[in-house]
Amino acid sequence: MYVLGIETSCDETGVAIFHSKKGLISHFLHSQIAIHAEYGGVVPELASRDHIRKLVPLIQQTLKDSGLTSKDINGIAYTSGPGLIGALLVGAATARSLAWTWQIPAIAVHHMEGHLLAPMLEKNAPDFPFVALLVSGGHTLLVEVTAIGHYEILGESLDDAAGEAFDKTAKMLGLGYPGGPYLSKLAEKGTPNRFKFPRPMTNRPGLDFSFSGLKTFTKNTLLSTPQSDQDKADIALAFQQAVAETLTIKCKRALEQTQLNRLVIAGGVSANTQIRAALKTMTENKNAELFFPRLEFCTDNGAMIAYAGCQRLLTGQQESLIIEGRPRWPINELNRP
Ligand code: KG4
Ligand code: ZN
Repeated sequence: MYVLGIETSCDETGVAIFHSKKGLISHFLHSQIAIHAEYGGVVPELASRDHIRKLVPLIQQTLKDSGLTSKDINGIAYTSGPGLIGALLVGAATARSLAWTWQIPAIAVHHMEGHLLAPMLEKNAPDFPFVALLVSGGHTLLVEVTAIGHYEILGESLDDAAGEAFDKTAKMLGLGYPGGPYLSKLAEKGTPNRFKFPRPMTNRPGLDFSFSGLKTFTKNTLLSTPQSDQDKADIALAFQQAVAETLTIKCKRALEQTQLNRLVIAGGVSANTQIRAALKTMTENKNAELFFPRLEFCTDNGAMIAYAGCQRLLTGQQESLIIEGRPRWPINELNRP
């Protein structure tokens, strides 16, 4: 079964074709970073308009690259939420219209389920069950995954998402958008252990997160420190170290609580090398396994949506023809009875 995947939830237009037996056939991504950079964050209306401009040409390019025609495609998967409503509706309307024209099924995919299953696109894919840490610009979730469509939320952020904390802190440091990769680059030049930042919510039980206090702590440190390039790099490193250690403590706790020995990390923040290294050390010490997608599939992409949609279509899942975007959509609503 060939499935065309479409991702338009935020500021990347992603398209891919996944085959149920042959794997990933082709994938392309158009990033809108250049459009939003001058505003220091995503401007929803500009995002929607750019998806409209880029999506159809990207679908044509993906088909051409795969050597397939529309007649070969057996289903279409698209991100239906969570995300920006205008951006989501571009993907939903395009996917449903194409599916109607081509007389094939279309399936709505949850963006975070896409991230969660992204490591399945790799050769070294995890078996079920596993614990997943999903860290993106909009979400921080710890999920116990027993099978596709069986997700128990173990913990989540009570305020800012991890990526949001990276982006806001980067802004305070005068860095570009999106802040995560810039902050992590600056942190490479930082002096270890010059500042000690808090590890929020780690000295009490539970698996929830909170990053807004860490952001305020960074702001106060910035205000009370001379701001040379070296000072900023030291602060960036202290912030990143605090996030990495906090995530690691919670992941260790989640593995112990569920008695599982497989950890999956996904979402944009999982591209961070210091976070990956901290989780690698922790899992190695526990004789547990760590899985993550290749770097380009950590951030938003069409391949993860094509994969997730294909799995759902293979189970025979069918949907009505309603064109729907769901800006808010808890992942555990996907659970089958
Ligand atoms: O998953 P994603 O591409 O989009 C959402 O679904 O939100 O994640 C984007 C987030 C942004 O907040 C970005 O700053 C962060 O991931 N990010 C990183 C890194 N690369 C992307 N954060 C820290 N370090 C990185 N290397
Ligand atoms: Zn995402």
